[in-house]
Amino acid sequence: MSSSSQEELIHMFKGIPFTTRSSPELLKSLDAFDAREDDVLLVSYPKSGTHWLAGVIKNLYSAQITLTSPIEFGDLSKLEELNRVSSKRVIPTHLDYNMLPPNFKNKNCKMIYISRNPKDTAVSMYHYYRDNPNLPTVDTWTAFFDLFLKGDVVCGSWFDHFLSWEEHANDKNILFLFYEDMKKDLPKIVKEISLFLGLNVSENDIQDICKKTSFSEMKSDTEKENSDPSHTVCALTSNRKLVFRKGAVGDWKNHFTPKQNRRFEEIFNEKMKLSKM
Ligand code: PPS
Repeated sequence: MSSSSQEELIHMFKGIPFTTRSSPELLKSLDAFDAREDDVLLVSYPKSGTHWLAGVIKNLYSAQITLTSPIEFGDLSKLEELNRVSSKRVIPTHLDYNMLPPNFKNKNCKMIYISRNPKDTAVSMYHYYRDNPNLPTVDTWTAFFDLFLKGDVVCGSWFDHFLSWEEHANDKNILFLFYEDMKKDLPKIVKEISLFLGLNVSENDIQDICKKTSFSEMKSDTEKENSDPSHTVCALTSNRKLVFRKGAVGDWKNHFTPKQNRRFEEIFNEKMKLSKM
């Protein structure tokens, strides 16, 4: 478990906590990022299924693409590094809509946002905090629960993140997905993603992709590979082994007390009253 403090690992940028793996200089320079019209963004609040979606997208393309590291990961050299990628770029990010480099919006780049029940997201993030040395120490689930509801965690408030993207859920260039729908009917969602990306895939290909991106396959592939620190989908770690924990819907029931559940629901109903979802 990590024993590093919040002060050592976290800095604030525009009111949102980031780890030191996202340098302030890089975050400041993102507004100048030069997007390409064929860039695809893979967007999520942490612990929502980013790696799963990345696995599906990688398998959907038969042509050469580069799944880059997150746009907010690294230092100032990041923009140059992404500029050097010559093939089509699929770029992950945990940024909220307001922090996204404006060029992605001006050029109508395709963006896929994946969301997950915030109760399961909170539980997944709690375990990540406990296992990931890049994140500050949390002693108990109760302490983390309070931090999560206050938005005092990396990437800030789940509610603010979701609402910032939900406002754009009907934009033509944005596809909104839910982790729970992927769990319920993965072939249907893979098909939806392929149509959105304009890719032609057969039923056989879809079955094959679903097999390759099952939780057990992805977890065991990860356990076999040597981790390459430059190959990361989440700015918060380069160690993929920390990511594949349980892969289940409803694990929150094993963590939330009835009182915590009531408090969560109250805050959820209040914060989400303007949400259409
Ligand atoms: S990160 O580190 O923020 O990018 O994490 P992210 O990839 O967004 O989310 C991690 C959670 O997704 C689960 N996961 C999966 N579930 C089902 N099927 C597949 N293939 C899959 N891959 C990853 C992963 O186990 C994390 O959830 P928890 O609840 O912690 O298990």
